[in-house]
Amino acid sequence: MRVYDVIAKKRDGEKLTSKELDFIVQEFVKGKVADYQMSAFLMACYTRGLDVDETSNLTKTMVSSGKQVDLSAIPGIKVDKHSTGGVGDKTTLVVTPLVAAAGVPVAKISGRGLGHTGGTIDKLESIPGFSPYLTMSEFIEQVSKIGIAIIGASKSVNPADKKIYALRDVTATVSSIPLIASSIMSKKIAGGADAIVLDVKVGSGAFMKNLGDARKLAKLMVDVGEKAERKTVAVITNMDEPLGFAVGNSLEIKEAMDTLKGNGPKDLTELCLNLGSRMLVLGGLEKEIGLARKKLEGILSSGKALDKFVQLIEAQGGDSGIIDDYDVLTKAKIISDYTAPNGGYISSIDAEAVGRAALELGAGRAAKDDKIDSSVGIILKRKVGNYIEAGDVLAEIHSNDMDLLDRADTIIDNAISISKEKPEKKELILEEIRINSSPSLRAYYS
Ligand code: URA
Repeated sequence: MRVYDVIAKKRDGEKLTSKELDFIVQEFVKGKVADYQMSAFLMACYTRGLDVDETSNLTKTMVSSGKQVDLSAIPGIKVDKHSTGGVGDKTTLVVTPLVAAAGVPVAKISGRGLGHTGGTIDKLESIPGFSPYLTMSEFIEQVSKIGIAIIGASKSVNPADKKIYALRDVTATVSSIPLIASSIMSKKIAGGADAIVLDVKVGSGAFMKNLGDARKLAKLMVDVGEKAERKTVAVITNMDEPLGFAVGNSLEIKEAMDTLKGNGPKDLTELCLNLGSRMLVLGGLEKEIGLARKKLEGILSSGKALDKFVQLIEAQGGDSGIIDDYDVLTKAKIISDYTAPNGGYISSIDAEAVGRAALELGAGRAAKDDKIDSSVGIILKRKVGNYIEAGDVLAEIHSNDMDLLDRADTIIDNAISISKEKPEKKELILEEIRINSSPSLRAYYS
């Protein structure tokens, strides 16, 4: 088999066999396919697409490019959760201790942020002392003991995704639906999940900018998951405005703690209960979504989810003093108010632009090896649909540098639109996608 022929076949819109996909991916991981050839192949996938079988076979070969995490020593159904990436999305920080407190074992491998979207590991690392570096046996032991562990991705698991993503990032091929689906699902499957709840974001701050594309991505990931015998459910959620109010690492940790204390923003709390109840059902702890939600509401108000978060922090070396004293977290030197230039209704808050403003301040990485500043970011003070007067504070900008503050201020100025008319309210949770024909799921949802 020749790499050239595989590229040409996809360029001409033909369907690739599992052998061909296996060949090009494994040879690339071994360093035997040049970056320029893989780039051409990825662009052919981008323009011609991959069907369900091809995406599923691509996922399989990516999983087999490295070690697979074996979670079988942990009793119970291991349910993973994944968000396709958004701005202010600190859901994992809330939902994982919440479901762990309910009895779902959480063995979570999370990523770092890239571009305008944040990563769970960066957020957790803003807690003094917290380490995302556990050996695999420490990881499994901690989940068996306290029901939860969150670690960063290991180089030996799914190396194909790391190498392929690095090329996609510089060849304008990130936004291909089958390439995103295979990248996400290969990470989930290699990470050892038995069942998966996917949060597919749609809107200005998401990879998927419209509902049609979000549906395609959700359906494809559910199909790939089910083909790999993982019970998979996707929820499509709105990412037109940031989730919650805080964007930036320490700021998001504070908001997650507020939410675990029952005082979080409405949208974040709602999303965590929604995803969490699906995790409980897939984990076999409840038969019905409504009952699962009631259980989680009880756990949240009892303080048990917060206790689980404390256990997680302490088990991974972090200072759990942050729970009672937020000042333990790093703080930016300058906090500047962005005020409304005129009165009216907030008609939109461009999530991607807010993410970019946070990135400018140093909260994220423009390139893979950039250092991040955990103290900086933005706290929005209002949401879309709120009525405001001229001069009201709409956002706090937390910065360690005056020039960066000015740049972020300009971006925020363009990101927030104010109108005389009250805008139509967009729902947060838009749709659920699952396989109706799957007997296992039918049983869970009947
Ligand atoms: N998130 C991923 O993990 N992979 C992609 O390709 C896009 C978003």
